[in-house]
Amino acid sequence: MLNNQGRPTSAGENAGTSHGTFTGNRALIIEEALLFESGRLEVTGVDIEEPEAFTPRLGGLERSPEIGLPGLSEPETMRHFVRLSQKNFGIDTGLFPLGSCTMKHNPRLNEKIARLPGFSDIHPLQPVSTVPGALAVIDHLAHYLKTLTGMPAVAMSPKAGAHGELCGMMAIKAAIAARGEGETRKVVLVPDSAHGTNPATAALIGFQVESLPARPDGTVDSADVRKALGPHVAAIMLTNPNTCGLFEKDIIGIADAVHEAGAYFYCDGANFNAIVGKVRPGDLGVDAMHINLHKTFSTPHGGGGPGAGPVVLSEKLAPFAPFPYVVNARVLIERQEEVMNGETPFGRLTAFHGQMGMFTRALTYMLSHGADGMRQASEDAVLSANYIRVSLHDLMSAPFGDQPCMHEALFDDSWLKETGVTTLDFAKAMIDEGYHPMTMYFPLVVHGAMLIEPTESESKASLDLFIATLRDLALAAKRGETERFSGAPYHAPRRRLDETRAARQPVLRWTQPEPVKDAAE
Ligand SMILES: Cc1ncc(COP(=O)(O)O)c(C=O)c1O
Repeated sequence: MLNNQGRPTSAGENAGTSHGTFTGNRALIIEEALLFESGRLEVTGVDIEEPEAFTPRLGGLERSPEIGLPGLSEPETMRHFVRLSQKNFGIDTGLFPLGSCTMKHNPRLNEKIARLPGFSDIHPLQPVSTVPGALAVIDHLAHYLKTLTGMPAVAMSPKAGAHGELCGMMAIKAAIAARGEGETRKVVLVPDSAHGTNPATAALIGFQVESLPARPDGTVDSADVRKALGPHVAAIMLTNPNTCGLFEKDIIGIADAVHEAGAYFYCDGANFNAIVGKVRPGDLGVDAMHINLHKTFSTPHGGGGPGAGPVVLSEKLAPFAPFPYVVNARVLIERQEEVMNGETPFGRLTAFHGQMGMFTRALTYMLSHGADGMRQASEDAVLSANYIRVSLHDLMSAPFGDQPCMHEALFDDSWLKETGVTTLDFAKAMIDEGYHPMTMYFPLVVHGAMLIEPTESESKASLDLFIATLRDLALAAKRGETERFSGAPYHAPRRRLDETRAARQPVLRWTQPEPVKDAAE
């Protein structure tokens, strides 16, 4: 007997027991074999005509053995990919409170607009004269990004937040070099609560990273920044709202100190979704800031992309923005590829203009929400996070005391002390309850951190159920019901995995198993 993975099972081994099933399936959770395991070499789902006789022109390099790709019929193919898609958890499946990642709803209207043939069927190498609409989308979006941030320029091409950091920091490096200080200003200050991409970006382009400690309230003290500044400092990279979900209240003092010392202020704007329509980073003294369109402006986010991370730039940095960019030249919108007005771009960051599909979606989100709608989304995101924070604070401990948060609520694990339950166990038990876990163990400065970002998209009923679930789990942990946690998840398609091994030694290749020898041979 073969189960769904094509592996032998003996009838009755699992059937009828409370521990398993004959097929390996559990009701609608269906085990799915690899195509190599379920497909057959002699089968194909499509009819392809035999090629006409031809003379090989590969000079003897043609493949001679069979390629060995397994085939499936159309219904088998459909089932395979639909089942795989059902193994995903996404924002369309349920509440996805992954702090710092902002898994907000992607409105279907965005999808509809991005699929219009005038947007979806164009090619980046088309003549400029045939794509004025696409260039107008980029130009309009750039305009709104500048308006919302209060910044005079924007580089649209970076393809993710981290790529935006690279872009902004390369502009800063080029500006410093143009001032003749490239050899002396080598240090970038980064708070120790920063996202790992900040120090990694600075180091990647040759800066030395100096860490800044936070105050007991979780924010950076402008006095500490002043002490660290000097003629050796090129820039500070500061996240606002920061990775602890708090607004950096000294931000203007920090910007002033940085500028007085001749350095630049790079703001990590990944959390801009908390302050859109409320605060303009340009008014705070920011010189460069990336905006994760996939967080703040609702473009799809997951599976590693595609993202988009445009970078807004101050007047001092604008001349160093990379190619290509779009200028609105009176009537014709055209691509700007040549150096003009004495500008000194640091070069080209991407082959083309960036993630066109994301631009279309982000602009749709902006236009359909309007200025008041975007402001309300920020307010609701902050309200939801504070509702969760206040509803759980009698059971779970907050690292920086009982203060309001921005768009995400941060807890530590001191409340779990002596329960035998860890942050990881707690998160795994959430999976059994049908929730994607919150962000765990980040920010690194908080022991056993649990960072919960509900976003503005959840209804009050949805938040109430989530809160009730977390309260139930927290009380179970406190009552010592460790079994509910230690083996969790119990109900997921896979039980607890060795995540370190999965990340460090991913098995990405299928190896054909040895043929089973017949005992009679
Ligand atoms: C604070 C912060 N900075 C930077 C990034 C990097 O953004 P991306 O994942 O788009 O590269 C993230 C991503 O989660 C973030 O939370």
